[in-house]
Amino acid sequence: MRIVVLVSGTGSNLQSVIDAAATGELPVEIAAVGADRPGTAGIARSADAGLETFVVDFKDFATRGEWDAALLAAVQAYTPDYVVSSGFMRIVAPSFIDAFPGRYVNTHPALLPAFPGAHGVRDAMAYGVKVTGCTVHFADAGVDTGPIIAQTAVEVLDSDTEESLHERIKVAERTLLISVLKDLAAPFN
Ligand code: GAR
Repeated sequence: MRIVVLVSGTGSNLQSVIDAAATGELPVEIAAVGADRPGTAGIARSADAGLETFVVDFKDFATRGEWDAALLAAVQAYTPDYVVSSGFMRIVAPSFIDAFPGRYVNTHPALLPAFPGAHGVRDAMAYGVKVTGCTVHFADAGVDTGPIIAQTAVEVLDSDTEESLHERIKVAERTLLISVLKDLAAPFN
């Protein structure tokens, strides 16, 4: 199974996918890692791992439509079976979803449909929930919407900061993402 992974930042969840693919625990080929801005740690760690990388910088395009078309072309060039949004903080166009029907997977640090968006951990804490978690789902053109594949609950501790809670969620998120990718890869192996 060939995957393209899209990132916007640190790429720590991506790193666990890279590691699991390298050891053979996860039978996928990471065809490329792409980002929507230059200078991300996610791209740097991918290059360090010898992976192909690309950047479709949102700032390089006059219109949203042109960026959409460029992102789609860049991803399609690698003919992935699945595209994984791993901390990719942009909503893709309907044309992107149409190009990868049921094949665009996103991870989110909350129990969707609760607390979608860029601040899922902060928003859950601000609401005062006692349990939150992470979700891996088939993404559509909405903000963290689309059919849920799997979720893991994570308890919120009284002592938690946004950072400490997000770190614990990410530990669960990495296990969940790799487990989902293994299931998706099974028919290919
Ligand atoms: C992850 O927790 C991911 O779920 C979240 O960004 C983090 C990326 O961390 N994505 C979203 O909030 C999407 N709405 P990483 O770059 O260290 O893997």
